[in-house]
Amino acid sequence: MIPMKLNENFQKLQSSYLFSTIAKKVAVYQAAHPQADIIRLGIGDVTRPLPPAVIRAMHQAADEMARAESFQGYPPEYGQDFLLEKIREYDFAAYGVSLEADEIFVSDGAKSDTGNIGDIFDVDNIVAVCDPIYPVYVDTNIMAGRSGDLMENGRWSNFVYLPCTAENHFLPELPKTHADLIYLCFPNNPTGMAIDFDGLKAWVDYANREGSVILYDAAYEAYITQENIPHSIYQIDGAKSCAIEFRSYSKTAGFTGVRCAYTVVPKELKRNGVSLNSLWARRQATKFNGVSYITQRAAEATYSEEGRQEVRDIISYYQKNASVITQGLRSAGFQTWGGVNSPYIWMQTPGGLTSWAFFDQLLERAQVVGTPGSGFGPAGEGYFRLTAFGSAARTAEALERIATAF
Ligand code: MLT
Repeated sequence: MIPMKLNENFQKLQSSYLFSTIAKKVAVYQAAHPQADIIRLGIGDVTRPLPPAVIRAMHQAADEMARAESFQGYPPEYGQDFLLEKIREYDFAAYGVSLEADEIFVSDGAKSDTGNIGDIFDVDNIVAVCDPIYPVYVDTNIMAGRSGDLMENGRWSNFVYLPCTAENHFLPELPKTHADLIYLCFPNNPTGMAIDFDGLKAWVDYANREGSVILYDAAYEAYITQENIPHSIYQIDGAKSCAIEFRSYSKTAGFTGVRCAYTVVPKELKRNGVSLNSLWARRQATKFNGVSYITQRAAEATYSEEGRQEVRDIISYYQKNASVITQGLRSAGFQTWGGVNSPYIWMQTPGGLTSWAFFDQLLERAQVVGTPGSGFGPAGEGYFRLTAFGSAARTAEALERIATAF
């Protein structure tokens, strides 16, 4: 019998996804210490409930689905017009960016879209990744066969690495060699740092010059507080011919469990005369059946007057947590970055501890969970990430425990 072949690239992956590894480690600790009152500031999962305007919209949409006259079957595969119109108006026109409705593709998450977008690109494309980086971009390119082999220094042989270190303020420098696909995430996960207009313009110019495509993850755009930081890459001249942008309702309106996001593929974006918008439309129509009517009504409600106020309140709640974390860590003697335009705080581990050694100490001494920087790439070694998505009381308590324990 000739043995069947599997996708060998999967064999190259770490045995489990970063956040699954952390969840397992915490579960083991909790089982061994059933009384431990663990505070979780690890995975960036939200804790505030859905805004009332969203809940009302979901109830109403559920009632519509209960009546034959207003029942809907398959949703339109790229998104309902009522939601696309709101996205165009509030997320883009408000920032001077004009998009057509069919440049926007509503989906179930920025994680899925940033992972799936690789479908429309050849396996031989050279991928540039920041280091540290959100692990989905790396893992999905390993799965697709674009990574080459894992080297001793923890890097993959075919990727172009863009180190983000304290020396460059965690902002990547332009690649020295050619890259076809460039993953950028701003405000950044995991470092919490944001890029300004001039910084992003340099990337857009590079991509247009080199014929590269920037995959721009703007899932944390709502956390921007400073005026010199762009909310969308399309605020930069020339971006429509080189960039795809990913957005999400997860970290704004608390949709991590509801699932709604969208991806923008401008019609101007072409390579070898082929429209990437048409390729993504074809990919989505084939492999995705759209987002449920109830969920899209929920997303629409985030743009109503009450909805926008309620979302702003949620974001400012988490922003207060971010400043509690930053101030608490700094007064305990830690060096920190991020947290100003982002719900993530990036800190240096004390006494030269490795990221995982600090993870263990923090769990044992303070019963606080965070995310080891090395889980985001080799340049994250010696760093650690905390999220502002916990409850205010638990966040304050975590910082008191850290100050006492270290
Ligand atoms: C994180 O903790 O980095 C987030 O949960 C990422 C995500 O949204 O998948």
